[in-house]
Amino acid sequence: MNLGVTVIKGRRSVRQYKDTPIPENVIRDALDCARLAPTARNVQPWLFGVIDDAALKAGIAELTDHGKFIADAPICFAVFTRKEEPYYLEDGCAATDQLILGLWAHGVASCWVAGDKKGYAENVRELLAVPDGYTLIALVPAGYPAQITIPDKKKTEDIVFSNRWEPKSA
Ligand SMILES: Cc1cc2nc3c(=O)[nH]c(=O)nc-3n(C[C@H](O)[C@H](O)[C@H](O)COP(=O)(O)O)c2cc1C
Repeated sequence: MNLGVTVIKGRRSVRQYKDTPIPENVIRDALDCARLAPTARNVQPWLFGVIDDAALKAGIAELTDHGKFIADAPICFAVFTRKEEPYYLEDGCAATDQLILGLWAHGVASCWVAGDKKGYAENVRELLAVPDGYTLIALVPAGYPAQITIPDKKKTEDIVFSNRWEPKSA
């Protein structure tokens, strides 16, 4: 199988990590993957936070509802985009996915933790001293995987249609 496809298909959300630190070159490479994501009109309206300070990670974890494990991750990325951009959400999501895949290509697992639409998004922005005008899209705690769970996925034939959709025959 093609290497890129193997990386993409092998990614899973991981919420338990080893303490092993992530090498700086891996962090830089994953951020490079993120910043090269497509954006509407190529505005690249983002800021990427790289948080390894234990107190800040604990503070972020505390603010979230389903991201308490951020406190125990070696590192947590925070993806922000300028909310005045009409495609701030799509742009931020594209970067988040490329960040996650860039990490995974180096064997570093992560998990997308919701930012946009969450009441705590503004609190995280303030905690990280990110300028007003940016909004949190996602938090991405990351580390070498300690435990991987494999969720069920829908089958291709159940979710793909050719040309015009029509009901499946029984
Ligand atoms: C927009 C978005 C928000 C998510 N928020 C959370 C979250 O707050 N906490 C969490 O543990 N997982 C979160 N996830 C991860 C999903 O639970 C996970 O992707 C899904 O269960 C499928 O598993 P997989 O990523 O291993 O394929 C989020 C994923 C997306 C795309």
